[in-house]
Amino acid sequence: MTDATHPASTEPEPGVIPQPASAPSASPVHAPLSPASPTIQATLPAPGRGLNDDPLWYKKAVFYEVWVRSFRDSTGTGTGDLNGLISRLDYLAWLGVDCIWIPPFFPSPERDGGYDVELFTGIQVQLGTHQGMKTLLDEAHARGIRVISDFVVNHTSADHPWFIASREDPDGEYGDYYVWRDDDTGYPDARIIFIDTEESNWTFDPVRKQFYWHRFYSHQPDLNYENPKVVEEILDALRFWLDLGVDGFRLDAVPYLIEDEGTNCENLPGTHDILKRIRAMVDEEYPGRMLLAEANQWPNEVVEYFGDGDEFHMAFHFPVMPRMFMALKQGSSKAIREILADTPELPENCQWATFLRNHDELTLEMVTEEERQYLWNEYAPVPKMRLNLGIRRRLAPLLDNDERQIRLMHAMLLALPGSPVLYYGDEIGMGDNIWLPDRDGVRTPMQWTSELPGAGFSEANSYLFPKPIPCVPPFGAQDVNVADQQANPDSLLNWLREILAQRRKHEVFGLGDFQQIDCDDSILAFSRNQGSTHVFCLNNLTAWPQLAEVKMAGFEGRVPAVLSGSIGEAPEVITEDYRIELPPYGYVWLLFSDPPANDSARN
Ligand code: GLC
Repeated sequence: MTDATHPASTEPEPGVIPQPASAPSASPVHAPLSPASPTIQATLPAPGRGLNDDPLWYKKAVFYEVWVRSFRDSTGTGTGDLNGLISRLDYLAWLGVDCIWIPPFFPSPERDGGYDVELFTGIQVQLGTHQGMKTLLDEAHARGIRVISDFVVNHTSADHPWFIASREDPDGEYGDYYVWRDDDTGYPDARIIFIDTEESNWTFDPVRKQFYWHRFYSHQPDLNYENPKVVEEILDALRFWLDLGVDGFRLDAVPYLIEDEGTNCENLPGTHDILKRIRAMVDEEYPGRMLLAEANQWPNEVVEYFGDGDEFHMAFHFPVMPRMFMALKQGSSKAIREILADTPELPENCQWATFLRNHDELTLEMVTEEERQYLWNEYAPVPKMRLNLGIRRRLAPLLDNDERQIRLMHAMLLALPGSPVLYYGDEIGMGDNIWLPDRDGVRTPMQWTSELPGAGFSEANSYLFPKPIPCVPPFGAQDVNVADQQANPDSLLNWLREILAQRRKHEVFGLGDFQQIDCDDSILAFSRNQGSTHVFCLNNLTAWPQLAEVKMAGFEGRVPAVLSGSIGEAPEVITEDYRIELPPYGYVWLLFSDPPANDSARN
């Protein structure tokens, strides 16, 4: 029953064709990815792009979250799978992604998208095999792409054999693996997270005739981290995947591991102790691997998850995300500036993970009640668009499918401090389907081509697709797909690829310091600085042209290079009072480097 003792299969399983690790090709090739998607072009990475051994790789990386079940179906079942993802790695390399994050792929009844885990060391049969996962890791690594896996530390599925044993035999080996009580009055100060579906954090179990504790769905009982055996089980399960070669983990829902009466049961010292043990194991046994925290908390609480550089390497910066949406609606940088000013410095070996959207609702937990109402009114006017304390919509529909705003939000995301985490499909501006239950509407199949019914996602009969492919303008697969955008040099996809390439060339975005710059509220102005490299980032948050006026003392006589932006060239810095006009929702990245890279001193 112990998870970590389940051996990984070394033999390929029936129906799975092992794919040999391919060496990066010597010159860029434009090759079709698969017969199903004849028009998708991929450029293989340049030779030698393979993984570097930089221990701080995550500080410079661009991450990409892949909802595997909706990415590419290789078996004709209608469900995306690991081999499907493998067949799209060339695309991700072409796009310029450094690390893929794959949400839970473990056996699961899938009542919470796989975050309800039944076996921590297994693989959901529809998604593939251990051999397939190994191939994914090898193939990604051959392309210089790392892979981090989700890992659900806080709870299991109620179908997990540990829970079944715990219910049936309170005095047995697993009796203490979960948090059981005779009544449901404990920990009254802990909030309910899934407020739309759950009424209590306790549920009565008719078999054990006791209540069990759960922070999420009632079918997801919380593990009892007061039990040292639970900690050992989890450490072993993590080792299992690290041995297979994953480059790290996104640890799910970390603030809730330990409960304590009289507290809100979040961020407790005992929780940090356990997380530090996980980190110590990783550092000792698997140096170079990375831990990313999902802790939806305010900056002063989330920084505790970095410890003194001895807990997480990275943590999502939840509060900055809704403020980017707020700033855009208000045409004012104030909300972003304030939260960044409130964000403490991190230990040298740590990094924020920043994001615009992910597989969950756009969470509005880290805003005030008034701000939440404002964001709901502006971005989720229809009740169906709301879920719990958030908005279940994708980026492009949130931004009225206005490509200027989509580019601007990405330009800010890629330049603000932190490593950006992109969400599959946002690179082409995919839409959502608010009529699907829960968060399924932001997890619809990737639109590779315009060819319906499968859109390059699957050759199966479309009635087999767990989530339908959108086919209505402006977000249908005919309107929004990878192949068309690859063929169009002015597309969102090609623009994103370009700006990612610029970001990759200049490590100041990952390693440099961050300075806010005084400017009119309508413009978010800041610089990133590393040694003699300085990038000024100016972002017009309004639907009107704006004159950005900023101080550039010390750069007189120089012409900055435009690394990326809505304008072609930048004027020379004549006096320290620099002015540059930005179009509606325009942005610009201005580079000064010494010796000048592209920027030139004028005689
Ligand atoms: C995390 C996941 C979310 C899941 C929840 C419970 O917040 O991102 O998708 O529902 O944990 O596991």
